[in-house]
Amino acid sequence: MAILHWFAQVGTQQPGGGRAGMFATRHKKSLGKCAKRFSIRAMRNGASAHFARANTLVPPRWRKEVERILITDRQIARRVRQMACEIQRDFAGRETVVIALLNGTMMFLADLIRNLSLPLRLDFMGVSSYGLGTEAREVMFTKELRLDVRGRDVLLVDDILDTGRTLSRVLPKIQALKPRRIKTCVLLDKVARREEDVEADYVGFEIPDFFVVGYGLDFAERYRNLPFVGVLHPHVYKAAIKSVNCKR
Ligand code: PRP
Repeated sequence: MAILHWFAQVGTQQPGGGRAGMFATRHKKSLGKCAKRFSIRAMRNGASAHFARANTLVPPRWRKEVERILITDRQIARRVRQMACEIQRDFAGRETVVIALLNGTMMFLADLIRNLSLPLRLDFMGVSSYGLGTEAREVMFTKELRLDVRGRDVLLVDDILDTGRTLSRVLPKIQALKPRRIKTCVLLDKVARREEDVEADYVGFEIPDFFVVGYGLDFAERYRNLPFVGVLHPHVYKAAIKSVNCKR
């Protein structure tokens, strides 16, 4: 429910507030430079610095909504394979339970675990962010774990680490079930947006503060099926603001 997540940040305050507002005001300046800036910056947790070239063409079907491709399907596939190797090395010989957070993680999860030659069991937690028009975004649990993780090695998988609220609520919940250890794995890490003191152990790509969709990530439940990670065009979320304001 990324639209709820996003509206909670933008609120119904002045246009230009919150995550998308910041993006709207500064993306034009920084978009072209971001790949370069990030490629020379030290990446944490082995995160990749390779983004799509600025001239990578968005498929015609998505061109009106997606401003540019940030990470191509090939770049994702390569990085997911690297992450799987790292995880496999760290989890070798252990009873592993992979816990994935619904819904955005489904594409990343599917690609990651098919590259893991480990005996593992898979479970899901349903987590959603609510808080339309409020400052505080509530993290709601919509599905609980079914597997017993006591004494097991847990790999917690999510699509994006943003403010960190989700992981900071989920981790203590799993910790209370007494696993042997928990390692966290995210495809995308938006460090600039962090509000909670939480980091992932495995990071696919450290990305700038752009509103990204695709490869599982949504805006208003759309765009999850894009095979790449793209930057949403501002007119898409501006139209969403308008429609919410009209209903009030
Ligand atoms: C998204 C994403 C992460 C979370 C990260 O979930 O899948 O779980 O936000 O944001 P945070 O670090 O600021 O907490 P969302 O609630 O939008 O649900 P979804 O997975 O169904 O898209």
